[in-house]
Amino acid sequence: MFSNALLAWYDKNKRHLPWRISPSNPYYTWLSEIMLQQTTVVTVIPYFDKFVEKWPTIQCLAAASLDEILVEWQGLGYYSRARNLCQCAKLLAEHFPVTEEELSKLPGVGPYTAAAIASIAFGQKAAAVDGNVVRVLSRYFAITTVNPAKDVKEKLLPLLPEKRCGDFTQGLMELGALICRPKSPLCSACPLQQDCGAYALRKMEDFPQMAPKQKLPTRYTTAFILKRDDGAILLRKRPPQGLLGGMMEVPTTPWEEIPHEKKGRRVRHTFTHFHLEVDVCPHKDIRAFEGIWVMPQDLKKYALPTLMKKILKGE
Ligand code: ADE
Ligand code: SF4
Repeated sequence: MFSNALLAWYDKNKRHLPWRISPSNPYYTWLSEIMLQQTTVVTVIPYFDKFVEKWPTIQCLAAASLDEILVEWQGLGYYSRARNLCQCAKLLAEHFPVTEEELSKLPGVGPYTAAAIASIAFGQKAAAVDGNVVRVLSRYFAITTVNPAKDVKEKLLPLLPEKRCGDFTQGLMELGALICRPKSPLCSACPLQQDCGAYALRKMEDFPQMAPKQKLPTRYTTAFILKRDDGAILLRKRPPQGLLGGMMEVPTTPWEEIPHEKKGRRVRHTFTHFHLEVDVCPHKDIRAFEGIWVMPQDLKKYALPTLMKKILKGE
């Protein structure tokens, strides 16, 4: 049976990740699921450890300011997650919902994350479909639909076990991460091989069928390094909403799709929807922009996105 085979495999082969504790801790489950959105397990582990050391409970996190959270989140990317985390912590400290439906109303919690928390933290029968699960099940059922997440969810619902639904959810993710990998899946070690449609066809890598990703446009900007005689650098805070909201930056010209002549050092960075090419230039007029003056050794106290760390490298 599908779920028995998967659960037995998971018991033997799961990685011991810091949020996989028994009994489950809903705070750990929620925090890890938010961090794991668009981010790999290896990247998340040190951030998760740092967060639960600094804020051991949801009540502790609820008492933290957005700036404190952003400082700890710096480098993890997708900063709207940190803003939602801050809001969400305050709600969860009052009342931690248990059902998929209620969970999905929380800031930063979409249908996938709601199902993941409901099943992993509370053992509910909920179908959490992430990229790993799409890959495993589109192969197992040899689903030929393009972008098959919806079909995968329909196939997954009747497979959910009455007991240990959280381990079942994590087992599917783990199988996708360790065995049913995007390239060269290790079918000989897979507990689902016997009934796997893609394996029967020996066409594992033909699933899932994905629509080609569109090419990202490039935007261009000039970043200004304003340096006082004592070495302090001018930083300013970005507006609370939008890209890198609430994070610190050096002043830049508007980010536009107009290439410009290179004058200074070139820094490249890729965001979800575009590449950015930055021309980093010293600016002689230290009164040209409003902001705060920060000594280089104090930069770590501020929430600097990776882009700004690259721009400030060596300053
Ligand atoms: N990706 C998303 N959720 C995960 C989890 N609980 N364990 C490992 N990888 C994940
Ligand atoms: Fe994936 Fe191969 Fe297992 Fe099928 S048999 S689920 S393709 S690892």
